Amino acid sequence: MFSKDLLDTKSERGAKFFYHAGKVMEYAGKPNLADYLPIPRWFDPQGLRRKTQFHVESAFEIAGVFVQERMEGMECGITEEKRNKDYLDVLLEFHGDGVEEPSSFSSRTINVIVFEMFTAGTDTTTSTLEWAMAELFHNPETLMKVQAELRSTIDPDKKLQENDIESLPYLTAVIKETLRLHPPLPFLVPHMAMDSCKMLGYNIPKETQILVNFWAIGRDPKTWDEPLVFKPERFMEPNMVDYKRHHFEFIPFGSGRRMFPAMPLASRVLPLALGTLLHSFDWVLADGLKPEEMDTTERMGITLKKAVPLKAIPIPYPRDRDQK
Ligand code: HEM
Repeated sequence: MFSKDLLDTKSERGAKFFYHAGKVMEYAGKPNLADYLPIPRWFDPQGLRRKTQFHVESAFEIAGVFVQERMEGMECGITEEKRNKDYLDVLLEFHGDGVEEPSSFSSRTINVIVFEMFTAGTDTTTSTLEWAMAELFHNPETLMKVQAELRSTIDPDKKLQENDIESLPYLTAVIKETLRLHPPLPFLVPHMAMDSCKMLGYNIPKETQILVNFWAIGRDPKTWDEPLVFKPERFMEPNMVDYKRHHFEFIPFGSGRRMFPAMPLASRVLPLALGTLLHSFDWVLADGLKPEEMDTTERMGITLKKAVPLKAIPIPYPRDRDQK
């Protein structure tokens, strides 16, 4: 986004940005009484709106400094280190027709876009990876199977590349099975009915907020055989449902016109990150924990995280890799 490592230990600003972004996600996932009863809406009885606004503004302030620094650099013609064009450059260089789109983006708009991308893209990705690793450690045979696929397809001394993913169907099935059982956005993103309508005999008034419970859809025994079992093999069957088609049984990325726009990105990043962790390392659970003792409880929020964070120790593979 900014061509900077925001979690670089020298940058306190980056850590603060992530702290405020994390707080916004935390408050966004808390049930708010004011959403259900119209009168207390103005009083903000739990203080959720006030607290969220504070953290949004604080994150904007920090992102604003990054944007300002880049703009000043561009004005003086200073190019920092040699780098490829990044997301911030694209936003700053945008020129619209000024009629159907703005002629340029204000710094406020840039802050909003940057903040949305960070919050939408961070927890969703890390939570999926943590759950995938947790399910694999909990099911050692599945872990062995996916590592065998990776290590027989990619030379141990080579790095996993994006174009290898097509030759790794079992790894892809592990990601899909993780998204089915532990969707990072269990209610997707709230939608609103733009007009009154009737659906399946129910009257839906205009402006009704709609939450799609994909967590329940993904565990529905009418659709899924042994729904609570982590079984990537189900996604290896011919003509199996896929998020790329109109299969409403499997919609971790939503569906229709407002479907998650970065699906092509996430469906590459997830197998690439998980595959790299499994191809380059063997793993042992921390504190001598046994696979059958693992706690797989979920913690409800806007994203569905593991209640007890996963702790595991990586061991380089092949063992003599670092000596080579
Ligand atoms: C496992 C990873 C991810 C999952 C499961 C996921 C899922 C979703 C879902 C379900 C929606 C709402 C779709 C709807 O309205 O029905 C959504 C929206 C969105 N996602 Fe993701 N997402 C993931 C990763 C990311 C990443 C990496 C980015 C950005 C780099 C991102 C950016 C967005 C944005 C900007 C929207 C809002 C789109 C709009 O305004 O309509 N997401 N995502």
